[in-house]
Amino acid sequence: MMRAKIGKIAAAVLLTVGVTSAVAQIANSKHDLTASNTNPDVTIKASAGQNNDEICVYCHTPHAANTAFAGAPLWNKNDQNAPTTYTMYGTTVAGTQTLASPQAPSLACLSCHDGVSAINSIVNAPGSGGYVETGQYVAFGTTAAGTAFTMPAGVTQIGTDLTNDHPVSIPYTTGAASLKDPTTALPGTWNGATTIGDLLRGGNVECVSCHDPHAGENPTFLRMANGNVGSQLCLACHAK
Ligand code: HEC
Ligand code: HEC
Ligand code: HEC
Ligand code: HEC
Repeated sequence: MMRAKIGKIAAAVLLTVGVTSAVAQIANSKHDLTASNTNPDVTIKASAGQNNDEICVYCHTPHAANTAFAGAPLWNKNDQNAPTTYTMYGTTVAGTQTLASPQAPSLACLSCHDGVSAINSIVNAPGSGGYVETGQYVAFGTTAAGTAFTMPAGVTQIGTDLTNDHPVSIPYTTGAASLKDPTTALPGTWNGATTIGDLLRGGNVECVSCHDPHAGENPTFLRMANGNVGSQLCLACHAK
């Protein structure tokens, strides 16, 4: 009797875990660029004492968004196409032609991670009258307002040379050697995705195929709940 009850409870718990979708935790992550971020590992953030203490504002705005940019919704930056060219992974990868330049979804990330574009550039600052069409540099760390702050050297500076990074803006070609069928269900729990197809943007692999910029609860903002334990993230697409 007792055992049956415990069994039922266990089953109910399992069921609940099974249907719970991942909830992203951007607050206090490395993508929380507000001055009030209390995470001791976070060194890159806004200076205290200015009206910029909103987490989302460094990437999104509810009004006056940059509609010319299609890589992410309600985008609050306008210099992601900074006069910059990128060196792509290669011209051919496993027989598939790579695109000549990063597509918009990856440019969203590169607008802070290429080491050239300004992290502290926003179009519409919080509060009344904060809009500057051409963008504005908010005060960041010891960098004064009006001055661009770019990603310091280090592993988080992906740079403009993408030859040493997993290919992005690369078509996910159905039937290509080693790639699984895109309708295949993903193993485990992923933020905002249940099949391989959900990971693609315009049919391509982009930074957001593997990362969710809001997923501060996962190691290195990976989209898979466990990060990349056992290389499960890689094995989701590659039949190896
Ligand atoms: C560091 C940049 C960054 C920050 C900060 C950020 N976002 Fe995003 N957001 C993105 C990008 C890039 C995408 C596109 C993601 C994709 O294509 O999967 C996105 C997409 C979204 C989407 C639509 C797709 C989805 O994942 O649901 C929503 C809603 C959203 N963001 C809300 C927010 C809110 C609310 C905040 C603040 C709490 C926030 N974001 C902070 C970069 C950011
Ligand atoms: C508004 C600027 C901004 C945008 C846009 C942005 N990032 Fe970041 N990201 C940062 C900063 C700042 C850090 C902290 C870097 C450091 O401390 O070296 C960071 C750190 C990271 C890290 C390292 C996390 C860790 O725990 O070490 C990853 C992974 C990352 N970003 C991926 C992305 C991806 C993928 C995108 C696009 C979906 C993106 N970022 C868009 C600013 C940004
Ligand atoms: C095929 C999957 C995949 C793609 C595509 C991808 N990443 Fe990553 N990224 C990872 C994994 C896995 C890690 C963690 C392991 C590591 O650092 O090598 C990571 C780590 C990172 C880190 C943190 C490095 C560190 O050690 O702190 C940054 C920053 C980052 N990625 C940014 C990007 C950006 C920007 C793009 C697009 C230009 C991108 N990633 C595309 C899988 C990917
Ligand atoms: C969203 C699906 C996806 C994920 C996740 C993914 N890849 Fe890939 N990967 C691709 C695609 C698409 C290509 C392009 C080559 C092809 O068509 O086979 C590729 C290419 C490669 C290549 C071959 C490059 C060449 O020069 O031929 C390697 C190696 C690779 N990926 C390793 C990894 C590793 C390691 C991970 C985990 C960190 C990973 N991939 C995660 C889709 C993915």
